[in-house]
Amino acid sequence: MLVSAKEMLTKARAGKYAVGQFNINNLEWTKAILLTAQKLNSPVILGVSEGAGKYMCGYKTVVGMVNGMIESLNITVPVALHLDHGSFEGAMACINAGFSSIMFDGSHYPIEENIALTTKLVNTCEVLGLSLEAEVGSIGGEEDGVVGAGECADPAECKMIADLGVTMLAAGIGNIHGKYPENWAGLSFDTLAAVNEQVGEMPLVLHGGTGIPADMIKKAISLGVAKINVNTECQLAFAAATREYIEAGKDQQGKGFDPRKLLAPGFDAICATVAEKMELFGSVGKA
Ligand code: 13P
Repeated sequence: MLVSAKEMLTKARAGKYAVGQFNINNLEWTKAILLTAQKLNSPVILGVSEGAGKYMCGYKTVVGMVNGMIESLNITVPVALHLDHGSFEGAMACINAGFSSIMFDGSHYPIEENIALTTKLVNTCEVLGLSLEAEVGSIGGEEDGVVGAGECADPAECKMIADLGVTMLAAGIGNIHGKYPENWAGLSFDTLAAVNEQVGEMPLVLHGGTGIPADMIKKAISLGVAKINVNTECQLAFAAATREYIEAGKDQQGKGFDPRKLLAPGFDAICATVAEKMELFGSVGKA
């Protein structure tokens, strides 16, 4: 059964570790992440962007697939199914489809509008027992065609949004989706510390988990980060393993063209990436 992310993140924040949000793109992705979480006895959050939701034939298909896998693979660790960077309409659609956790990303609106729209969702999610993530200060890089500059959030605005009663808060601290450029200045720990001071015990969310060095991850966790999002790194690992298989000509040997064989190295690579992140984030054994 899917659960809200509230309890797992409250425990993570108190225990000074973070739960990984791993974005899913298809059946192989979902199966790899769920099996790895179960093997390592770790709570996990499956992230679905609006674009990935569309790709997977809509939110209802995603809910059906994930619930089916939890049952047939005997997954007993806590699993939240979370909309990533949702619009207001996308959030409502996922609530109706059976997601257990929602992100409303109002960071591109003026703060008053972000507050007004987030407030509406706080009430709906509260009644339904769903967790809700809000965002202040847009995350840099490109996701589903939307390019942000990597702002640093205003801690006072973070407090305003946190006080609305959201479950967790994503604050921009110079982080970027996708690969980090050579000249990246690193995470702004001054911003993170100031935000953390403003929001009390609220679990903070670090987006753009791909390529952030281990020492920065540890420091972010020590400053209140309890959820870390990873997407691109699984895609890169999958692509590299698949490329290697095909370049070695294995798809042309025997029945190597069978998708169950062709996609196996990529599947294993996702499992390895997820396991590595769970170790780094400290969520292993915390289910
Ligand atoms: P990366 O693709 O950089 O890992 O970021 C993922 C993310 O933040 C999803 O919201």
